[in-house]
Formats: sequence, C-alpha cells, structure tokens
Amino acid sequence: MTKRVAILISGGGSNMMSLVQDMNGDHPCRPCIVISNLPEAGGLAKAASAGIETLAIDHKQFGKDRSAFESALHDALVAAAPDIVCLAGFMRILSPAFMAKWDGRMLNIHPSLLPKYRGLHTHQRAIDAGDDYHGCTVHEVTAELDGGPILGQARIAIAAGDTTSVLAAKVLPFEHQLYPMVLRRFAAGDRDQVVLGV
Ligand code: GRF
Repeated sequence: MTKRVAILISGGGSNMMSLVQDMNGDHPCRPCIVISNLPEAGGLAKAASAGIETLAIDHKQFGKDRSAFESALHDALVAAAPDIVCLAGFMRILSPAFMAKWDGRMLNIHPSLLPKYRGLHTHQRAIDAGDDYHGCTVHEVTAELDGGPILGQARIAIAAGDTTSVLAAKVLPFEHQLYPMVLRRFAAGDRDQVVLGV
C-alpha cells in the first residue's frame, strides 16, 4: 500500500525536491502535501510546479503563541493524513508535545554528523573546531532536538581553507542523495543505517 508523505519546509526546498523526484516507480511512497511556515518559501512554488498540494501556515501570524501555530500545523497534517512526515529544511523548533503526536512517523535531515553540532551554524562550528570531517544526518524526530535514532549519515572531508559556504555546498549534494535513500528504507520498515561518503 502506497505510503503518503508530507514534507515540511522553510526555504528553497532542495531536499524536498530530491525526495519528491525519487518518489516514483516502485518507491513505496508518494508526496501528499508540502507545508511551509513561510509563505514566501521558494520550495512552495517548486512543489506546486510538481503538481503537489501546498500550504503555507505563516508562523508570524501566531506571534509568540507557538502552541497555536503547532495546533494549526497539526490540524493541517491530520487533514493530509500522511503516513510519514519529512522535515526538510524546516526551521521551526517543534515542541515535545507536537513530536509525540508523530512519534515514529517523522524524519529530519540535519547538516552535521550527529550527535555533533545539534542546532544551528553547524558548518562554521565544524570548521572552528578544526574537524577533519563533516557531513549530514537523517534521523527520526523525537522530543530531543536533533536527537532521535540515526537512520543515515554522509561524511565528507573538510579541506584546509574551506569556508562555511564552501562546506555547505559540499554537504548539500550528499543531503540530496542520503534523504531519499533513507526514506525508501524507512517506508519499507528497514532501519539499518545508510552510510555514504568518505
Ligand atoms: C540544508 O542544508 C538542510 O540541511 C538545512 O537547510 C538547508 C536548506 O535546505 N536543514 P533546503 O534547500 O531548503 O532543502
């Protein structure tokens, strides 16, 4: 039975499009909706061009009432009835109460080799730390920020002189390769870690 996938974005949606473009043929999933917390997110137009239902729930309209925003987001997801929710460049921190409602059904991609560098500015932090390697991680989303079970990682070497933007550009193609590979497996019940890169 085909699994329905909702994808949450906040920006350009390159990871979302990688997932969408992979969900065809014998893939066990199909995208059912793309939702953004920013109406101006470029990924919404890309998703619409791909024939996917889109929705913007502007978090700014809810002011400081994060709970109201999360209720609106949850209601929109319930209406779309996804089997799996993929966070793909979604930049709002979701509460443990929200995550609990989607426990076991929500994935995220994070631009670091978790558990290193949870949170923001991961590329700069890896450079500042003098790390030899960096990369990205796909994990199940739990109440712990960027802390759920790891389902896949891609590792790259940090070269001398790499800037934050250079490193981000080196990691992003691996994100686009890793996330679709993990989603295919996760949808089929396979939780063996995917390992890519050096
Ligand atoms: C990516 O680096 C992703 O790891 C981070 O947001 C960046 C942009 O993602 N979460 P996208 O192009 O909007 O998918």
